[in-house]
Amino acid sequence: MADLQVQIVEVGPRDGLQNERVRIPTANKVSFIEALADAGLRRIEVSSFVHPKVIPQLADAEQVFQKLRERPSVRYSALVPNMHGLERALAAGVKEIAIFTGASDTFVQHNIRMTLAQSLAHFAPVVSRAKSAGLSVRGYVSTVFGCPYEGKVSADQGISVAEKLLDLGCDELSIGDTIGVATPGDVERWLVIALKRLPLSRLALHFHDTRGTALANVMVGLQHGVRIFDATAGGLGGCPFAPGASGNLSTEDLIYALHGMGYATGVDLDKLVLASHIIAAQIDHLLPSRYYQAARVQACLPE
Ligand code: COA
Ligand code: ZN
Repeated sequence: MADLQVQIVEVGPRDGLQNERVRIPTANKVSFIEALADAGLRRIEVSSFVHPKVIPQLADAEQVFQKLRERPSVRYSALVPNMHGLERALAAGVKEIAIFTGASDTFVQHNIRMTLAQSLAHFAPVVSRAKSAGLSVRGYVSTVFGCPYEGKVSADQGISVAEKLLDLGCDELSIGDTIGVATPGDVERWLVIALKRLPLSRLALHFHDTRGTALANVMVGLQHGVRIFDATAGGLGGCPFAPGASGNLSTEDLIYALHGMGYATGVDLDKLVLASHIIAAQIDHLLPSRYYQAARVQACLPE
């Protein structure tokens, strides 16, 4: 039944690794991504074509794409911050990109050094060039449920930005709780308003588990018919320099819950744990995913 199909967008290699302070060798990133695809993930955000000084961890975006084996069933995508990034992505043969802005002006200014209005004008030619080159374009809206600088963000702010991204030509929107403050009540209130204005089939929800509410928030999304969720293998993500900040919703925890509820994702959880294990061996902290840690202990995998 189509309604029980859920799409997972695995953003660990990008949203996750961009926050890791230990530099991961390109070959290990490629093994990680191949293992994610082997586990059945069909949409994977591989890297980001930003200036290497902005995010040194992702400076090898070209090399990662070059080494990845093409798989007709897997959509590999990349984040691009500007036209320069798009040109690099096109040269690397990338078929799907993501652009990003936010629901709160101050956050956007800190992230990309322009106002929210400027960011929309800045991305307009990027989206139009990407579309005319035949690419799919995803638009991220960050800080929809709260901003580290401005605090509460109204539903209208995020929805208006999402509408403008659709007008620019984005195929899909990822609605982000960047700092992990949303509660199921916030998501409920937001969706009730948003679904009067935005097309359900083009909405993805992107939760961080900073305050332990990410999976509960997904449940609210499911009840409203959302069927696309972003997550990171092992729960990678979060800022290693901010004590207590935790990562994205973990793909393992999400899939475990979804399968138990009768939803189909196409992902093999045992294989996903093995993929996360490739990265666990590289980084300087434990992966926060609860499912991953339970499975690791059961299978006697080292930390
Ligand atoms: N890839 C490689 N080099 C790039 C680049 C890209 N995508 N974009 C710009 N550059 C280079 C330019 O060629 C220029 O080089 P030069 O000084 O040798 O001429 C230099 O970087 C500065 O370019 P400029 O256009 O002035 O960019 P900026 O310094 O104003 O940066 C952004 C603006 C948006 C590109 C930058 O703030 C950014 O990438 N932010 C993204 C942050 C991010 O990824 N956050 C996480 C995602 S949520
Ligand atoms: Zn995120």
